[in-house]
Amino acid sequence: MSANQPLTGHDRPGDPCTIVIFGASGDLTKRKLLPALYNLKVLKLLPENFAVIGVAVSESNDELYRTKITEDINEFATSGVDKPEWDDFVKRAYYISGDFNDAGTFTTLGSKIADVQKTHKLPGNVLFYLAVSPTFFAKVVDQLGKAGLTTETEDAWRRVIIEKPFGRDLQSARDLNAEITKSLHEKQIYRIDHYLGKETVQNIMVFRFGNSVFEPIWNRRYIEYVQITVAEELGVELRGGYYDQSGVLRDMVQNHILSVLSLIAMEPPTSITGDSVRNEKVKVLEAIRPMEPEEVIENTIRGQYGPGLIDGQNVPAYRTEPDVNPHSNTETFVAMKLKVENWRWAEVPFYIRSGKRLAARTTEVVIGFRRAPLLLFGKEVESEIPPNRLVLHIQPEEGITLDIHAKRPGPKIQISNIPLNFNYNEFGESSAATGYETLLYDCMVGETALFHRYDSVDASWRIVNPILDVWQALPARDFPNYASGTWGPKASDDLVVRDGHRWHHYPLATVK
Ligand code: BG6
Repeated sequence: MSANQPLTGHDRPGDPCTIVIFGASGDLTKRKLLPALYNLKVLKLLPENFAVIGVAVSESNDELYRTKITEDINEFATSGVDKPEWDDFVKRAYYISGDFNDAGTFTTLGSKIADVQKTHKLPGNVLFYLAVSPTFFAKVVDQLGKAGLTTETEDAWRRVIIEKPFGRDLQSARDLNAEITKSLHEKQIYRIDHYLGKETVQNIMVFRFGNSVFEPIWNRRYIEYVQITVAEELGVELRGGYYDQSGVLRDMVQNHILSVLSLIAMEPPTSITGDSVRNEKVKVLEAIRPMEPEEVIENTIRGQYGPGLIDGQNVPAYRTEPDVNPHSNTETFVAMKLKVENWRWAEVPFYIRSGKRLAARTTEVVIGFRRAPLLLFGKEVESEIPPNRLVLHIQPEEGITLDIHAKRPGPKIQISNIPLNFNYNEFGESSAATGYETLLYDCMVGETALFHRYDSVDASWRIVNPILDVWQALPARDFPNYASGTWGPKASDDLVVRDGHRWHHYPLATVK
């Protein structure tokens, strides 16, 4: 994956600022945020003048924190650690411990920010990153507001990055938004979705709007269906406590998958910055009509994994994972058919599926084109060959495949399906990245295109909420209904087969 230039094309470093990370001793901070900030520094996209203040409950101090993050970076950096770069980074790192419920923590934080700004001659810009449990989002923002830390001036911005999940249903998302907007303007809120930091997700926009050949056929006249698969081999691991209250619909569909879908389906924006992109994305979500209960039953499939084999190893059932209720009805798999009801997409099914403990780890978008209007080369032969398909491989391989029909060499006309493959790894320089670089950088330059505006969060909950309601009212009776290491319950296949399609999975190297 490349950490080269951000999508928005700025070639200056971020604004000088103080970065405050709530949840400084958590997993996200050590695995992603610190390595991403370090990568930005190496790329000269972090401002030369910056400071980082970690805030967490655990007792520590600046010195101990510096030692800890030095150990962490040596373990989690995405490539080697350059000593002079890290030395300069670490001397700008500070720590305060405190309870997020305690107003005193925020008074201390205010003084610490002021001291750090003085020491490093920093302007008043502060980026707050909420890498904490969602139960603290509203609390931390409220305390920041009460401590006067969210107030902007003409030459000092205050921005808050909020992790997912943003609410657990439509009402709680609305409540959370109402809470945080008491202390923040929408333009100060950066609702992060790490899928939008992925190189090949950003490439969807470049692919669609940087090439003139695809846009004219990017519609219902030429496209028969769209499939989005986000499959994981991992189970819930140590996150059973969170996941059992969530399920894949909330965990993956409401945010990551609907976000990818809106990039695939949106109209061309007038520019690739801020609200132009967000305006178009939200229109797609608003065009997906929330399902009636009977449509939920017809068009959605849920599953939960039982025991099975992953990479030749026996793995346990979801219900026996740590912190999971042994009678849990939480879904670990979903497949569904959605319709984007606008002129571009009317009647084109968008099939999406996602799950844990599936047969492979893959995220890919398959665009299935309609068959040629006249089969000139022998009906039997030609109808056995699938129509053209375009596959956007997002992970683990990153690239693009276009299947075309071509004549096999020889005197007879024999037609084969030929994959034209483009592998991102073979494309120019790339450096390892965490996927958070672009997002952190964009926040430091005030670029919002890759963050969710509240209207799109609301629109995606409006799509997901009726499904949650029906599933809650009619608990699944057949869980667990798929073995680990498979592609989910059979009903997921039936969902697409009844429309004359099937699910596709094409590893980039072996496209058939
Ligand atoms: C997170 C979900 O948002 O995304 C996890 O909470 C999931 O359950 C993860 O495993 C997948 O991210 P990635 O980048 O590995 O596809």
